[in-house]
Amino acid sequence: MSLKSKTIELLKRREQAQSGGGEKAIEKQNAMGKMTARERVLALLDKDSFNEYDLFVEHEARDFDMNTKVLHGDGVIIGTGTIYGSPVCLFAQDFTVAGGSLGLSHARKITKIMDHALKLRIPLIGINDSGGARIQEGVNSLAGYGDIFFRNTLASGVIPQISVILGPCAGGAVYSPALTDFVFVVDNISKMFITGPEVIKTVLGEEISMEDLGGARVHAEITGNAHFFATTEQECFEQIKKLVTFIPWNNSRKALSFKPKEPKKEFNIESVVPGDPKQPYDVRNVIRAVADDSDFFEIYELWAQNIVIGFARMNGETVGFVCNQPMYLAGVLDVDSSDKAARFIRFCDAFNIPIITLVDLPGYLPGVDQEHAGVIRHGAKLLYAYSEASVPKVTVILRKAYGGGYIAMGSRHLRADFVFAWPSAEIAVMGPEGAANIIFKKEISEAEDPEKMRKLKVKEYKDRFANPYVAAAKGYIDTVIEPKETRRLLVHAISVSKDKTNTNPQKKHGIPPF
Ligand code: HXC
Repeated sequence: MSLKSKTIELLKRREQAQSGGGEKAIEKQNAMGKMTARERVLALLDKDSFNEYDLFVEHEARDFDMNTKVLHGDGVIIGTGTIYGSPVCLFAQDFTVAGGSLGLSHARKITKIMDHALKLRIPLIGINDSGGARIQEGVNSLAGYGDIFFRNTLASGVIPQISVILGPCAGGAVYSPALTDFVFVVDNISKMFITGPEVIKTVLGEEISMEDLGGARVHAEITGNAHFFATTEQECFEQIKKLVTFIPWNNSRKALSFKPKEPKKEFNIESVVPGDPKQPYDVRNVIRAVADDSDFFEIYELWAQNIVIGFARMNGETVGFVCNQPMYLAGVLDVDSSDKAARFIRFCDAFNIPIITLVDLPGYLPGVDQEHAGVIRHGAKLLYAYSEASVPKVTVILRKAYGGGYIAMGSRHLRADFVFAWPSAEIAVMGPEGAANIIFKKEISEAEDPEKMRKLKVKEYKDRFANPYVAAAKGYIDTVIEPKETRRLLVHAISVSKDKTNTNPQKKHGIPPF
C-alpha cells in the first residue's frame, strides 16, 4: 500500500471516528437546541487551531453488551487549541455517544489532557454533557471520576480551570466542575444535580422537574455553583473567550496586557454616589467610571448580588474588583456574599491579579437565619482570604464602612497596600443611629424630649466619627481623595506595586474556615 493510499485510509478512519453517535443521535442533540461536541470545540477555539488527540481510542469494556458496541472516541473529544492566540487544553463530552457517559477509556482521555494542561502550564476547559458514570463499566467509571477529581485538585491554583455545563451533569460528574475555578451554564440546556428526579421520587416521593431541581437558573441564582449564565451556547462561548483574555496562562505569569483606554465619558464618577448615605446606587457604575474603556466583566452576576466581583483593566492590566453593592440589601455582608468574595480573592491571589476593593456597607446582615446558616464561619473566609492574599491590594472607602464590614473589606489591618477614602466616607463601629441609641441611652431616656435628645446625640456622634478623618489621623487610611482622583490613584497604586513582595510564614498550607 502506498503512502497515498494509506493517507486516504487515514482520512476515512478519521471521518468515521469523528462522526460521533451517528445521524439519529445528532438529530436528537440538535432538537434539544444543543450543538454537537465537535461543533462546540470549533465554535470556542480560534479558527483552524484545534489539534485533536486520542481520536482512535476505543473502550475495553466487555460486560453486558459492551463488547458489541463501537463508541467513537469513547464519547469524548480532547485536544489543544487557542483562544485569541492563547493556548488552552480542552475536553468535550459527546452526548451522542452513549450519552457522553464516563467509562474507563473516556476518563483516561480526560486525565491525559488534564495532565497535559498541568505539564504545559496552560488553562484547562472542560465541556460537560454526560449521563455520568457509565453504568456498564461499574467501578472503572467511579475510578475514572476519582482520577479526575484528584487532578482538578492538584491543578487548582496552578492553571485556571474552566467548566462548561452543556447538558446533563449528573451524580459524581458535578464534582469535577465544582472543583474548578469558573462554571458556565446555559438556560434550558445545563442541568446539574447529585440525585436526579427519579431518585427523589423514589426516596422522598416528591415530583420535581430536572429544570427546577438543577437547571441553569437554579445554579446561577440560588446555589452559586455557576459563575456565568448565558441564554445560548454561542453567548456562553463568547463569555468564556472574554474570560480567557483576563486571566494568565498559569500561576507564574501575569495576564496579558492590553492597550490602555480611558473610561467612557458617560460614566461620571462625581454623580454616581448619592450624598445621602441611605440612598442606594449601582456600584458597577463606579467601576465603569474608573476602569479602562468602562469595561467590567462581572462574575456571579445573579448570585449574592449584595457583593459585586469581576475583572476589569486599569491602564491595560487585569485587576479584580470586589465591591459592596448598596442597591441590593444595602450591600451588607452575609453567608453567600462572603463565600463569593473570598473565593474570588483566592483566585486573584493565586494568579497574580491585583485586587481593588470598593467599600460601602453597613456591616454584616443581622438575624437568626444568618447566624444559623453559619455567618461566623462563612464571614471568616473573607477575613482569611484578604489576610492571606499577597497580590497588590488597593481599597477605596466610598461611604459607609461600619464595624466588621470595615475590617473585612480589604482594610489596612488585613494588609491592604493602599487605602483611600472619599470625603463621604464614614468609618465607625456602627451607624450613627445605632451607636447613639446605645452609648447615650441614659441621656436620651431621661431627657425632657427624648426624640430631640436622640437627634442631637446622633448628630454629635456623626460629627465626631462619621467621617474619614479620624481613621486618616491614625494612618489607617492613607489619604482622603476627591472622587475624580480615584482612577489616577488606582492606576498609580497598581503600577508602583508591580514588583511588590509580601511573604507569609512558611507552612504546608493554611487551614481556612471551609
Ligand atoms: C451508560 C448511559 C448513561 C449512563 C445515559 N446513557 N446515561 N449509558 N451509563 N450513566 C445512555 C442511554 O442509555 C442512551 O443510550 C443514551 O445515553 C442517551 O440517554 P437517554 O436516557 O436516551 O437521554 P435523555 O432522555 O436525554 O436523558 C439523559 C439523562 C438520562 C437524564 C442523563 O440518560 C439519565 O438519567 N442517565 C443516568 C444518569 C445517572 O444517574 N448517572 C449515574 C450517576 S452516578 P442509547 O444507546 O439508548 O442511545 C455517578 C456516580 C459517580 O455518576 C460518582 C463519582 C463520585
